[in-house]
Amino acid sequence: MSLSVGCRRHPRATGTSTIGTSCTNRHQCSIHWNRGGICRARLGIRARVPFNGMRLGGIGAVVVWWVSTAEDLRCDPPSLESMMPTNRATDRPLAAPTLHHTTFTTLRLDEMVEWYGVALGLYPAFHGEDAAWLTNDAANHRIALLSPPGLKHPVDKGHSTGIHHTAFEFETFDQWLNNYIRLRDRGITPFLYLDHGITMSVYYQDPDGNGVEIQVDCFGNWRDSSQWINSALEFAENPIGTWFDPEKLVEAREQGLTFQEIHEKARAGEYVPDEIPKDIFLPELY
Ligand SMILES: [Fe+2]
Repeated sequence: MSLSVGCRRHPRATGTSTIGTSCTNRHQCSIHWNRGGICRARLGIRARVPFNGMRLGGIGAVVVWWVSTAEDLRCDPPSLESMMPTNRATDRPLAAPTLHHTTFTTLRLDEMVEWYGVALGLYPAFHGEDAAWLTNDAANHRIALLSPPGLKHPVDKGHSTGIHHTAFEFETFDQWLNNYIRLRDRGITPFLYLDHGITMSVYYQDPDGNGVEIQVDCFGNWRDSSQWINSALEFAENPIGTWFDPEKLVEAREQGLTFQEIHEKARAGEYVPDEIPKDIFLPELY
């Protein structure tokens, strides 16, 4: 038994639905089918189809068609706007660009190139007389350094608006803590050390005094740490976090404590340093 349920936009589907067999109309006119079996075709034809029954096919499969009234046949197709869900993000790009690099001006180009190499494994993709482009991943550069003529050092950099720090993340707690030890042994030590709840972080200054945060995610993945920062009362009440002495973290790991145990103890204040920094401003270097 055939039913005429096709549409003018997809004429090949006209009259091809047969009870007991597959419904070709569903496939060839899929643009007019909504999930759940309600079809509001261009001609106003309304049909309801149990899809599972259609997939089964063969004798005994149940296909029930409801052909609309003459009034339904005269209805206009819905506009594209009316079919779209409301999108309130009108002030944001639908496809957001990825953060790619930061550029610093500097009067210590070579010193900066060396420091970023030692601290973070950034190597110069290009290192000229007045500029360098550094990367440590697949991007062509992550940090750019420019030394244009006429440049001068800032005044009161630590208390000026602007970038406080850039941040780099290790995948594991051991990588992160081992890097702290490696830098410490080279005389490079942090000026801030905080368990933010989302990350455990140590903050350094590059040769120009720019802040550089090196962190490890406390949840091991961005999905969970994003959910936590978005919803945890603990973060809302104390977004800066808890101070820790990184040397006490080294001791704790040597005693066999896991990252999670160390993180929880740090949040509980068990590794507070003897001297807590009085503020989070960048120490003045000039
Ligand atoms: Fe940060």
